[in-house]
Amino acid sequence: MVLESRKFTAAIDQGTTSTRFFIFDERGEPVAKHQEEFDQIYPHSGWVEHDPFVLTKSVENCIEAATAQFIAAGHKTQDICALGITNQRETAIVWDIRSGEALYNAIVWADSRTTHIVRQLKLEDAADKILPKTGLPLSTYPSAVKVKWILEHSRAAREVYEAGYLAFGTVDTWLLYNLAEGCSGEKLHVTDVTNASRTMFLDINTLEYDPFLIRFFGLEKLLLPAIASSSNSKAYGVLAKGPLKGVRVTGCLGDQSAALVGQKAFEQGMAKNTYGTGCFMLYNTGNQPVRSKNGLLTTVAFQFENQPPVYALEGSIAVAGSAVKFLRDNLGIIREANEIGELAMSVQDSGGVVFVTAFAGLFAPYWIDDAQGTIFGITNYTKKEHICRATIEATCFQTKAIMDAMEKDSGIAIKNLAVDGGMSNSDECMQLQADIIGVGVDRPAMRETTALGAAIAAGFGVNLWSSFNELDHVNCRNHRKFSAQTSPAQRTKRFRQWERAVVMSKGWLT
Ligand code: G3P
Repeated sequence: MVLESRKFTAAIDQGTTSTRFFIFDERGEPVAKHQEEFDQIYPHSGWVEHDPFVLTKSVENCIEAATAQFIAAGHKTQDICALGITNQRETAIVWDIRSGEALYNAIVWADSRTTHIVRQLKLEDAADKILPKTGLPLSTYPSAVKVKWILEHSRAAREVYEAGYLAFGTVDTWLLYNLAEGCSGEKLHVTDVTNASRTMFLDINTLEYDPFLIRFFGLEKLLLPAIASSSNSKAYGVLAKGPLKGVRVTGCLGDQSAALVGQKAFEQGMAKNTYGTGCFMLYNTGNQPVRSKNGLLTTVAFQFENQPPVYALEGSIAVAGSAVKFLRDNLGIIREANEIGELAMSVQDSGGVVFVTAFAGLFAPYWIDDAQGTIFGITNYTKKEHICRATIEATCFQTKAIMDAMEKDSGIAIKNLAVDGGMSNSDECMQLQADIIGVGVDRPAMRETTALGAAIAAGFGVNLWSSFNELDHVNCRNHRKFSAQTSPAQRTKRFRQWERAVVMSKGWLT
């Protein structure tokens, strides 16, 4: 049901290594887009930071450039009816609520500096309550431990905290605070329920912050953002600056949730796998949280306004695109990320090389915080092509391990893997993925599903759509399918080799 004549929706996609901005038409096709990479700050091994103001600036730049394209194509900005925000999750930012000054760099989700804090917390009596309440195992991944670390190491942040003015936010909250305002021009301090579910402050059963959790991390004086539904007509205000000043912000959700929405995986049993900096599989479990017995996370998938929440089981892989970036920027064995697929497929196999890309320990389903990146099986025969192949295979093997865990948890075999994100653009990588899992891989023609999901959430917030059935014409262009060209015996043999390598990559730090 279209209540307004305006028909474009826009989305900010603030990811781990780049920021993008898209303007979509009513069929979910991008009519304007811009992307900007920004600096990763690696102060020590295992540490990853972003400058919070660089993140904000990159969003402003992307909005400006894409809007200029949009106008040059003959469109009017008044026809953009709503904007959604989607973002790298867990990444923690703290600032002084009085001045807006960020008091430390953003500590990024993949940062593993908190390993020792996590070990100590695991020894606490109450530690076994964390997983059932939050759906997340105690690890370096969620925001809470990162904030705890900042307070232990930054005197400036500690002082503002003690005075009761230390605001916390994930990247969505930070961007809304800096780029949007409420209806009366007030500053916003708000997040959505999917982002909140990654902080470790939220009880995913009640969808409220839990005083026990806040006490557990010793963060009673932290100012936490208000929680709103992922699609919301009021909570996120309007853009306060730039060429789209005044556009309503009516969608906000973590990037993996957004990709699930962009893939239109609205029904229980639907799943998607997004290859970004990391790689994340989400499996829609409907209106009830399902507890994993096999190393998966339970998370809020999305909640639309006045609707019950939808939950997901999640398999999180910490390193996917970032390993390709590592080959490009650190080893220099490729010049462009998109060279990797062709190089990988120019050899018959990895030549016995297995690369456990555990740059920040291993996430799901293993959760080994002291695993380190390790390349096994190098001989005089090894060429860069083998390393390229083993790098892609690392993500594909972890995807297989996660699929196996999902099948065990749900009792249902996954027959088809819906994919999107950077690495899914490569036919070669997706063929390798199908060969490793032995299940068909299904790739939509329009793969910017993360941004599209945020735009869809925003569209619901202004009644551009009011039911999921109305999205049939959105992102429905032909899909490409990749089928396995390997035998079960070949797959089993290769996966066993991977599992042995995982075991051997443990314990390098101790
Ligand atoms: O949980 C981290 C995730 O949200 C990061 O996504 O796309 O930047 O790898 P991405």
